[in-house]
Amino acid sequence: MSDMGTATQVHRGRWLENWAPLALGRATWAASPLLAAVWWGLVVLRSLLPAGLTLGLGSLVSAIADGRPAGGSLVLVGGSFALLSMLSPIHTQVGAILGDQTSGWLQSSLTAACSDPPGISHLERPGLADELTMGRDFDLGITGPPLSVALGFISAGMVELGGGIAQTIVLGTVLWWAPFVIGGAWLSTHWLLRESSVWSNRTDPEVMAEQRHADYAYRLAVEAQPAKELRVFGLGEWTVERFASRRRRLVDLQWKSMRLRQRSLWTVFAVLGVAHAMVLVPLVSSAINGHITLGHLVVGAQALLGASALAVGGFAWALEGAAQPILVVERLAARMAAEGALDTHASTGSAVGLPTASIRFEDVGFTYPSGGAPVYRHLNLTVPAGKSLAIVGRNGVGKTTLVKLLCRLYDPTSGAITIDGQDLKSLDVAAWRKRVSVVFQDFVRFELSLRRNVVLDGAAIDDAELGRILEIAGAGGLAQFDQPLSKAQPGGTDLSGGQWQRVALARALAAVHLGAGVVILDEPTAQLDVRGEAAIFERLLAATAGCTTILISHRFSTVRHADCIVVIEDGVVVEQGSHHELMAQAGRYKVMFDLQASRFNDDEHAADIDDMELVLEDAEVVE
Ligand SMILES: Nc1ncnc2c1ncn2[C@@H]1O[C@H](COP(=O)(O)OP(=O)(O)O)[C@@H](O)[C@H]1O
Ligand SMILES: [Mg+2]
Repeated sequence: MSDMGTATQVHRGRWLENWAPLALGRATWAASPLLAAVWWGLVVLRSLLPAGLTLGLGSLVSAIADGRPAGGSLVLVGGSFALLSMLSPIHTQVGAILGDQTSGWLQSSLTAACSDPPGISHLERPGLADELTMGRDFDLGITGPPLSVALGFISAGMVELGGGIAQTIVLGTVLWWAPFVIGGAWLSTHWLLRESSVWSNRTDPEVMAEQRHADYAYRLAVEAQPAKELRVFGLGEWTVERFASRRRRLVDLQWKSMRLRQRSLWTVFAVLGVAHAMVLVPLVSSAINGHITLGHLVVGAQALLGASALAVGGFAWALEGAAQPILVVERLAARMAAEGALDTHASTGSAVGLPTASIRFEDVGFTYPSGGAPVYRHLNLTVPAGKSLAIVGRNGVGKTTLVKLLCRLYDPTSGAITIDGQDLKSLDVAAWRKRVSVVFQDFVRFELSLRRNVVLDGAAIDDAELGRILEIAGAGGLAQFDQPLSKAQPGGTDLSGGQWQRVALARALAAVHLGAGVVILDEPTAQLDVRGEAAIFERLLAATAGCTTILISHRFSTVRHADCIVVIEDGVVVEQGSHHELMAQAGRYKVMFDLQASRFNDDEHAADIDDMELVLEDAEVVE
């Protein structure tokens, strides 16, 4: 919540920067300078036209009364009138296009803000996540009309307001003091309406949290991925109710501020009535007494009528609604950049050919930036270059975290990771990441072709090589190379979990083919069937021979192939050695292995056990 506090302070601190018309000006200009110039130009022009019409009418009446030629006045009246009616639909059109362009610009700013930072903690902060939902969903029509529609309301409102201002100035040419009375009345009403303007608390933490919950329930209900669990566990009704109750709460919050507005509306009417009477009565009596001409009376009365447009001010909600996401996106961009930053001022070293000796975790301590208990306090671990190292340990012990640290998605809180003795922080981040080929436990299944899923960066690879890689990974014949791996795409196909895992393994192999020297596989065989797995894994290790391989797995059948195995417990390495060495040590590893083996009659089949997780839990009991 301290995040929110800071955001609000920034929000209040620079009021001019956060002033809605200025925010809208900045965003529309950035999206399309030409359209923005036309749109804002039309706001000004259309604001001036009613005043022109008033002056024209006044001079027309004067000319007729005095018997002078009225040609010029007629042209002014006719021209203003024609432009008034012509420009409105053009303005709406320009606004619609400009609104779409501004949405597009906001969305690309947001995408860049999310994906540009080299780290990932900016996407894991609850405070930022709420603002992100708010910034992202502005165009879904949940919290307000999309920008293309909102700009229409805004231009209409601004033209009315601008016209009111121009008319008030014209009124001053007849009764010099009248603009102060009318202007004063308007200012007070504007203040009264603004104070309770609809839902100005849209970035309020409560509103944003409700929105995030509603959004989550909505996605649960409409997306294909959660559909299975929703049905099997009978969660359909719960999801709908969750969505409905959150949305009801949002409507309640909105209604509350509307009610506030209604209350102040009566005060507004009273203030305006009095102010208008204060001007109209002297105006008419001056004309009756002959103190002002008929032309002046027409100008005065018309201008007074026009000045009342000032009091409408009803577009504030649309303007606020359009400015909020702009401000949120602008603010997010800066905060995400700071939050997702890594200390890269010294990260210039070349990563070519690294490592040749070892990767070492030297007394590494790490706590996630979003909080929680430290995952490691003093982790010491050496990964010899050119060898394979398997890591075993219970769920949540920090295996995946270790992978993320190695990819430099976060920096250690204390201690250092060194590559051939150089601090990982001293290497160029992108260059190091190119050296690393990693298959994450929750690897992404891109809705792209098989080829593109294997060679993620789109680098050229010939079909023969691609075919060979897919064969090794056991992914031969799954799909045509250029077939999309998603039923949602035309001509696409769906793969099972195990088939996807083979594609992910092919991904790692392709990266090695293209120059990676460190292979990291986080639970790479969890979804493979045991028989297929052994063969795939042997081929994989052969194909990556010479690479520094880190292998995280619960399966002995996978782990035992590694040159060296480490057992991690409570954030430290408790055992280390080859399969045979660890068996000879008769420690933790052997206890786990024996428990697996005891479920079968002979050791040979122990390799078939595919769920070491269970045994790890049992080992606790045995001790
Ligand atoms: N993004 C995150 N933010 C905060 N805590 C996390 C995050 N990811 C993992 N953790 C926590 O860090 C610990 C280690 O997680 P992880 O490395 O994924 O374990 P493992 O891969 O060994 O199962 C767990 O307690 C987990 O809850
Ligand atoms: Mg994990």
